[in-house]
Amino acid sequence: MYYNSILETIGNTPLVKLNKLVEKFPATILAKLEGFNPGQSAKDRIVIKMIEIAEANGDLKPGGTITEATSGNTGVALAMACRVKGYKCVLCVKDKVSKEKYDMLKALGAEIVICPSNASPEDPRSYYNQAKRISEERENGYYLNQNFNTLNQTAHYETTGKEIWEQTEGKVTHFIASTGTGGTISGVAKYLKEKNPNVKIVGVDAYGSALKPYHETGIYNPDVLKPTYMEGVGKNIIPANVDFKMINKFIRVKDLESAVRARELALHEGILAGYSSGAVIQCLFQIKNQLKEDDMVVLLFSDHGSRYLSKIFNEEWLLDKFKIPSSY
Ligand SMILES: Cc1ncc(COP(=O)(O)O)c(C=O)c1O
Repeated sequence: MYYNSILETIGNTPLVKLNKLVEKFPATILAKLEGFNPGQSAKDRIVIKMIEIAEANGDLKPGGTITEATSGNTGVALAMACRVKGYKCVLCVKDKVSKEKYDMLKALGAEIVICPSNASPEDPRSYYNQAKRISEERENGYYLNQNFNTLNQTAHYETTGKEIWEQTEGKVTHFIASTGTGGTISGVAKYLKEKNPNVKIVGVDAYGSALKPYHETGIYNPDVLKPTYMEGVGKNIIPANVDFKMINKFIRVKDLESAVRARELALHEGILAGYSSGAVIQCLFQIKNQLKEDDMVVLLFSDHGSRYLSKIFNEEWLLDKFKIPSSY
């Protein structure tokens, strides 16, 4: 048996029990390892879905150029898919993107535009506006728009949510995921809640993100916005892919604690996962008193840790950013 292209290997990622790191927890804690996708993140799932639908409805023409604003993982997935399918790929990335992600995008033949992290969403220099503008300038340009293209959550509804339900044989009681575009948490939540409305959905947010305040007040407050070191946790806009009514609560986590948790995950479980996976574990620790023996908690680990070797897995970086001893 063989696959016809790398794109056919997307999805069906493993669900793995955590042991030592959570040994004092009453509940069963399972992790969905999205780093097993060929592009090493959950974003492979959404990119292939969006491209296939855009091809089918004629929005994407053969040989066209796909543009996107991405913190990196969607870019890797898109660059990979464009190589296989014969599209050009232009990626607008924030200047805080890790070196590993940047190099990977280059290796996959993408054109990269570096954009200032501190540009407001309305600023023409923001990565959103540059991706949109470039799609309009290029012949047969197509802007993927992962924040507002709701096929993002459809992909997770059809694949990730279904897989989690089947892998847990319907026993999942809690689902915890970092929330950026909101596609992962909203799509998975919709599937799980259709099967069992009592499943609790917890979104992980960053301090300085607009999501939790919006969930609680219904008001977008730009005054709360602050940059973070984490990638893919929190947002400075309200993406259409966050389905707020599907999310029971948002929990905010800090940069340092999340980095430390990702390092503990590697050391205690042998799982090298990304920064936002550390954020999910930190969230789990913050809600651990609410868990019971029969609970089955599924954590979504969005990407692989190899992308963060120069950040959270690098002692000089930790020392520089957080002033903590290098032996930490
Ligand atoms: C590393 C990482 N973690 C988490 C997320 C959040 O996933 P979503 O965009 O589906 O909310 C993203 C994407 O933004 C990401 O790149």
